[in-house]
Amino acid sequence: MIAVAYLLGSISSAILVCRLKGLPDPRSKGSKNPGATNVLRIGGVWAAALVFFFDMLKGALPAYGAYLLGIHGIWLGVIAISACLGHMFPLFFDFKGGKGVATALGAMAPISYMAVSLMGTWLLVVLLTRYSSLAAIVTCLLAPLYTLWFDDRFTLPVTMLSALIIWRHKDNIRRLFQGEEPKMFRNKKN
Ligand code: G3P
Repeated sequence: MIAVAYLLGSISSAILVCRLKGLPDPRSKGSKNPGATNVLRIGGVWAAALVFFFDMLKGALPAYGAYLLGIHGIWLGVIAISACLGHMFPLFFDFKGGKGVATALGAMAPISYMAVSLMGTWLLVVLLTRYSSLAAIVTCLLAPLYTLWFDDRFTLPVTMLSALIIWRHKDNIRRLFQGEEPKMFRNKKN
């Protein structure tokens, strides 16, 4: 299941959706990140929604499949992390992948209170700041606290996953501090 999760995570929805729609490779445009936010910049809402859906699915399928097979606890967490590592370092795309936000969300979505808390936090920060990256970072910082509050069996793997995702945002963090991070939706003037 760990290998299956990694291989599934390695299928980069952003690169494939951009290829299918005749858009530029997301690794060469915008933030150069093959993820839904950058596809939103390059190809618009529908292309981004497709990427978000498939990136979530490749986290949800192995995690929920493992759960149904009777895998629980730390091993379930390892499988979820493996799907995210596949997304971040994809075997099929020169190990140049995304930041793992949607895939991690998908892996945690079967735990319904996590899905609601994580998506609620992300949406709130995006609405307040218009920064997708800041929303992901704040959500990752709060995710371990949510597990502590609701169900501490998942605290260790969720903390590891959150740390990994925050580390993948190191360029975004630098740009945020320098005031150079692009906002998610631009108004017509800029
Ligand atoms: O989910 C990725 C997002 O947090 C940042 O994406 O393209 O702005 O680096 P991007």
